Amino acid sequence: MTRVFSGIQPTGIPHLGNYLGAIQNWVALQANHECIFCLVDLHALTVWQNPADLRAQTRQQTAVLLASGIDPEKHILFNQSAVSAHTRLGWIFNCVSRLGWLNRMTQFKDKVGKDRENHSAGLYVYPNLMAADILAYKAVKVPVGDDQRQHVELANDIVKKFNHDYEVEFFQEIEAFVPAQAARVMSLRDGLKKMSKSDPSAQSRIDLTDDADTIALKIKRAKTDPEPLPSSLEGLTDRPEARNLVGLYAAMDNLTPEQVLARHGGEGFGPFKKALADVMIARIEPIAKETSRLLDDTGHLDHVLRTGAARAAAIANPIVDEVEQIVGLLK
Ligand code: AMP
Ligand code: TRP
Repeated sequence: MTRVFSGIQPTGIPHLGNYLGAIQNWVALQANHECIFCLVDLHALTVWQNPADLRAQTRQQTAVLLASGIDPEKHILFNQSAVSAHTRLGWIFNCVSRLGWLNRMTQFKDKVGKDRENHSAGLYVYPNLMAADILAYKAVKVPVGDDQRQHVELANDIVKKFNHDYEVEFFQEIEAFVPAQAARVMSLRDGLKKMSKSDPSAQSRIDLTDDADTIALKIKRAKTDPEPLPSSLEGLTDRPEARNLVGLYAAMDNLTPEQVLARHGGEGFGPFKKALADVMIARIEPIAKETSRLLDDTGHLDHVLRTGAARAAAIANPIVDEVEQIVGLLK
């Protein structure tokens, strides 16, 4: 069975972008893949986190993933820092990866803006650790949103350089698995900005813990333009907010954007937003309710993560032992 690996940072509550870009695919891939899903708490540290919040959010995200349909018995769910193979391989990849490659990473450039000097070294080498996450398991398929494509390409550069430098065929190239719809969900307040956990406005995103009324209100207040919906895709050109809402509807209701416009073209945003809120509530509300139930039993959540980490370590440790052997560390 093909091995899948993916990760999410426990830095806030997962939102609709995380769900449609990643989590929904993770759940679907479980049917016919061997899946390893990871709360990447070490990646979270690349930006300062309040320690108590980081611990709480790691549990909360575990609850959201379980509520979304991740099966921790057939597959593996754990937090990154519990398996030391990630940092062991991460260091070796820091030495394989090139500064020139990291300098091209658009996510780093977007995050630091003009204030590059003041960010952590960890944030800069973050993609090397991400490559280690995947390759410590020799996973080959990586379900992620569009913003992670470039990091997966960098992981493949590491694969090629590692095999070349040590004259081995040890790692195999990996494949990003990006959804056809909603691979890049935009903010509800600005159709040109990605929906993000770090956006200061809670109105900009739908959290997977939002109740029905909150979802309805956020959709009602979502930024739009005064024109009715067009009947064809061309009519969405230069209308980023309208395009985002149509894409969300399509992704939530398993339609293409063309089918959504065939149904709702000509409608004003009032009735369209009402229909969109209905499909969204039907999908998100059960997740929110189950998350809150699971959060009452942190003992169970910790047990899931501990068991997952032990199973993950049993796969990753022998692989990373072999890498250390290849590069010449005396063991
Ligand atoms: P993060 O929250 O940055 O750890 O992202 C976890 C996963 O969600 C990654 O696969 C991202 O590509 C995906 N993701 C994050 N934000 C969005 C978004 N606005 N649209 C689509 N996918 C997203
Ligand atoms: N960098 C990813 C993000 O911010 C999270 C991540 C860390 C990841 N390690 C990974 C995703 C390995 C896929 C595979 O979204």
